[in-house]
Amino acid sequence: MSDLRTFGKFLSSVVPLDPVMRVRHLYQLIPESLEFAGRSTRYMNYGYWDDGCTSMDAASEALARLLADAAGITAGDVVLDVGFGHGDQDFLWLQERQPARVHGVNITPHHVESARRRAADEGVADRLEFHLGSATDLPFPDATFDRVVALECAFHFRTRRTFLAEALRVLRPGGTIGLIDILPVDQETPQTALRSIQFDWISRTYDPANWYGTGRYLGELAGVGFTAGAIRSIRERVYEPYRRAMVEQLADPDFVASLEPGQHETLIRVWEGQETLGSDLAMLDYVVVTATKPA
Ligand SMILES: C[S@@+](CC[C@H](N)C(=O)[O-])C[C@H]1O[C@@H](n2cnc3c(N)ncnc32)[C@H](O)[C@@H]1O
Repeated sequence: MSDLRTFGKFLSSVVPLDPVMRVRHLYQLIPESLEFAGRSTRYMNYGYWDDGCTSMDAASEALARLLADAAGITAGDVVLDVGFGHGDQDFLWLQERQPARVHGVNITPHHVESARRRAADEGVADRLEFHLGSATDLPFPDATFDRVVALECAFHFRTRRTFLAEALRVLRPGGTIGLIDILPVDQETPQTALRSIQFDWISRTYDPANWYGTGRYLGELAGVGFTAGAIRSIRERVYEPYRRAMVEQLADPDFVASLEPGQHETLIRVWEGQETLGSDLAMLDYVVVTATKPA
């Protein structure tokens, strides 16, 4: 696909009207050559760009570690990861945190297939189980998990509140939820005000019912029954360093060599010719959310 905007128009012409199916359809259609060019992992998030972090892979791993710390994932835990993408963070946690077992739930069939394939290839399918399913109808009995996490995806869910209620149900008493989520800085600015190619996917797949800020978010957590809700913005270490890294990457000969024909020119246009990008970046927050199920 030589032009991202054309690709966006093509997607909007073929995707289903049902919002949940639309999200799933979009993830099914994204070409991997666009998504993972020049990378060794298959994370699908903006990453956490701590001082000295210079690669997308390292930033995504740092974000996965940040979430594991926030949710308190420790040895022996039974963890549910909702919207796991290709599951990279689950393989990382298995190695570094030694949970007893991680279950993943994802609505996109090819994400489930690729994570299952990798778990089988690495001989860990008995500890990493990936299921096709929806965040708002979790296929597990009550009180199954010590931790429920969702990394950069709860804004898609229809609705986030329904997911929070489901997460509370499947957590054991005293268990914790940890989320990395995208929020508007000002909920009065509508999501349709996002205009850049880079954030077009958010404009299209952010469920409008979830477009609210931290005050309402804390209210939703408390409303379904969580206690100790907390939300921390990490946006300064996410969007702008991510943008800088994307621009710098375009001058890296190894990265350029990994691209499909025509992709380099497209990416230069996307990252260097965009007046709308600055205003979009100012509209979006990026947060770590934690809460506890009462004991
Ligand atoms: C931006 S990606 C993040 C993937 C992964 N957590 C990561 O950080 O690499 C969002 C993921 O959420 C999944 N997803 C979207 N809506 C969902 C839903 N209703 N239920 C379960 N998964 C969903 C998508 O299929 C996709 O894998």
